[in-house]
Amino acid sequence: MTDTTANPASASWRDAVGGLWDEVGRLQLDFMVSQGLEPHHTFLDVGCGCLRGGVHFLRYLDDGKYYGLEAQQWLLDAAVQEEVPRHGVADRTFQLLCRDDFDLTSFGASFDYAIAQSVFTHQPWNTILRCLWNVGAALKPNGRFYATFFEDPDGSHPAKPLTHTPGGIVSFPDKDPFHYPFDVFVELGKRTHLDVACIGGWNHPRGQKMMFFTPAGNGSQR
Ligand SMILES: C[S@@+](CC[C@H](N)C(=O)[O-])C[C@H]1O[C@@H](n2cnc3c(N)ncnc32)[C@H](O)[C@@H]1O
Repeated sequence: MTDTTANPASASWRDAVGGLWDEVGRLQLDFMVSQGLEPHHTFLDVGCGCLRGGVHFLRYLDDGKYYGLEAQQWLLDAAVQEEVPRHGVADRTFQLLCRDDFDLTSFGASFDYAIAQSVFTHQPWNTILRCLWNVGAALKPNGRFYATFFEDPDGSHPAKPLTHTPGGIVSFPDKDPFHYPFDVFVELGKRTHLDVACIGGWNHPRGQKMMFFTPAGNGSQR
């Protein structure tokens, strides 16, 4: 397997999803396995980019169980043409969908697990609300939707930029990259009939926190 990370021409799609290709890719699979993801589960990668995490999920999951949603076609093209063969998973069956409204109906699937890694960090709350409506509708009754966010731990959301450790990323209350107090997600969950639990740190190299949403009332059934 050849890794051409050092080639700037071939690394642009990796840069577009934030770099840290190997670290953040593997972290996603290891974390989801720690949360109970098994190979037979049906898995949705929201804002999958060029499959930084996806190439690891493809190797782990049973054939046909990986679904990726992404707003930018060029990132999906880079995934299929470059990253999937490079990571030795070109023999796997998977589905990718390019759209930006989080409408998942064309997949015709319901999901045991979903993740949005470094997606809500770039979204205003009303876009997150739309995402929760649509992903929530596609979850199985015991399904879980994991999402990362930059946390405003003391609720100073309207007031000031915040610097996150590790990594030193500065986030903002009203522009990308966004931070939110966790109670914003509790409120968005209420509006979309989802319960949400904060996991907090998960060894993300840029200090993003983790939470998960479940269909309301079903969170304790797994
Ligand atoms: C920082 S990248 C992370 C990609 C991937 N989750 C990973 O960890 O490598 C965020 C991705 O979310 C995608 N995205 C942003 N808004 C979206 C939307 N409304 N629908 C689908 N994808 C979206 C972006 O195009 C980008 O590829």
